[in-house]
Amino acid sequence: LLTMDVGSFADVPQDLLKEIETLEGLFTTDTEKLKQITEQFEKELTKGLSVEGGSIPMNPTWVMSYPTGYETGTYLALDMGGTNLRVCQITLTEAKSEFDIIQSKYRMPEELKTGEADELWEYIADCLMQFLETHHGDTSKLEKLPLGFTFSYPATQNYVDEGILQRWTKGFDIAGVEGHNVVPMFEAALAARGVPIKLSALINDTTGTLIASAYTDTKMKIGCIFGTGCNAAYMEDCGSIPKLAHLNLPPETPMAINCEWGAFDNEHKVLPRTPYDVTIDKDSPRPGQQAFEKMIAGLYLGEIFRLVMVDLHDNRDTHIFANQDISKLRKAYSLDSSFLSAIEEFVLPSAPDPFENLSETAELFQNKLDIRPSLPELELIRRTAELIGTRAARLSACGVAAISKKKGYETCHVGADGSVFNKYPQFKARGAAALREILDWPEKSDPKEDDPIEILAAEDGSGVGAALIAALTLQRVKDGNM
Ligand code: GLC
Repeated sequence: LLTMDVGSFADVPQDLLKEIETLEGLFTTDTEKLKQITEQFEKELTKGLSVEGGSIPMNPTWVMSYPTGYETGTYLALDMGGTNLRVCQITLTEAKSEFDIIQSKYRMPEELKTGEADELWEYIADCLMQFLETHHGDTSKLEKLPLGFTFSYPATQNYVDEGILQRWTKGFDIAGVEGHNVVPMFEAALAARGVPIKLSALINDTTGTLIASAYTDTKMKIGCIFGTGCNAAYMEDCGSIPKLAHLNLPPETPMAINCEWGAFDNEHKVLPRTPYDVTIDKDSPRPGQQAFEKMIAGLYLGEIFRLVMVDLHDNRDTHIFANQDISKLRKAYSLDSSFLSAIEEFVLPSAPDPFENLSETAELFQNKLDIRPSLPELELIRRTAELIGTRAARLSACGVAAISKKKGYETCHVGADGSVFNKYPQFKARGAAALREILDWPEKSDPKEDDPIEILAAEDGSGVGAALIAALTLQRVKDGNM
């Protein structure tokens, strides 16, 4: 049943078809291009591990082993993500790879992201205190609990319990933190409130994802986040990390590397950037940084789409949404990636009939933006969403392929988490198809057959992963190793 009258199907006019073709030219990444990107990516991963360094930070994390599955104990985990603040208490039980978890989510107020550093740490300390009071009652008698703090920004770590923020990403912009170790700031806020917590490890979400996934599946070799931001971690041998050579660690010692691959191609050598990507970068709080992330991550997908729509209205021959008030559409970052997800969801091949599906998109435009697209415009909207979503998934695959090639992994599992991976329709399938093209796998004889390298939904990295890393760290200290 149609909920809204969007007119009748007409042939898409020539000028709109031409626009669609132009957009296809801008956003399509063919196999050759993906291979070229992957090759450059692999070089940059190696460069990031060198003494001179490159554009990808390749941060050593001091997570120096996979879990055995037999870790035990009770830990707190704090995840300061882009959108929420999550606090968990995790008990790793005697039974192999089993755990109990309780958790609370707190909203991360938007103004904190660009506010004062003190306010941020105070807010976090308050949330932790509230969590302890809810679950433990009187905190004055509580013994200090060990905490794994998932702080998902690029940080230099000389130890597992420090993190010198290299730079904010994902739209954060809080003065006085970049270039500083965030742990003393965080601990000062805890101390001021008497929160009985001892930070054991500062963790990136990708490292947490890697360790949590490896806890239940030993084939897991890479942890990825495709969410508000986009990044990966994997286990390197210290012998392949020239920038750690001065520490004289045995060459076969494992060291998890937080790639911070969002910074790939900051020097704009290979990524096929469109004028829209250039605008996103220019108007962001950190121009010139996170070039790869700005083409892929959830924070930016809706904004890329919005910029295309505004351009087609203002500047192109077609002038879409002619004579309509597009003031709502003009608001930067007003569309998030769930807006694109919704458009793509309506037109999944499995969805009933295309006319009805486009009518849902029409409704979305009307409700959210007060715009009534014509039927041909709806087709253009659908195709634009598809192009942006497909490009993101295909470029992501280049990063996974590059790590796999660097490590010589012909088969493995990749644990992935994040809103784009979990919620964006077809992101997984498009990524898998791209990986197949890049790595020249032959066509499957049976569609149910597993791919040699599979990107799978990860275990909860910022909960279980953070607890495991806290456990591994405390064990290492007990064993008398760094
Ligand atoms: C950004 C952060 C990185 C994080 C990723 C996913 O790229 O810099 O640390 O892993 O977002 O949250």
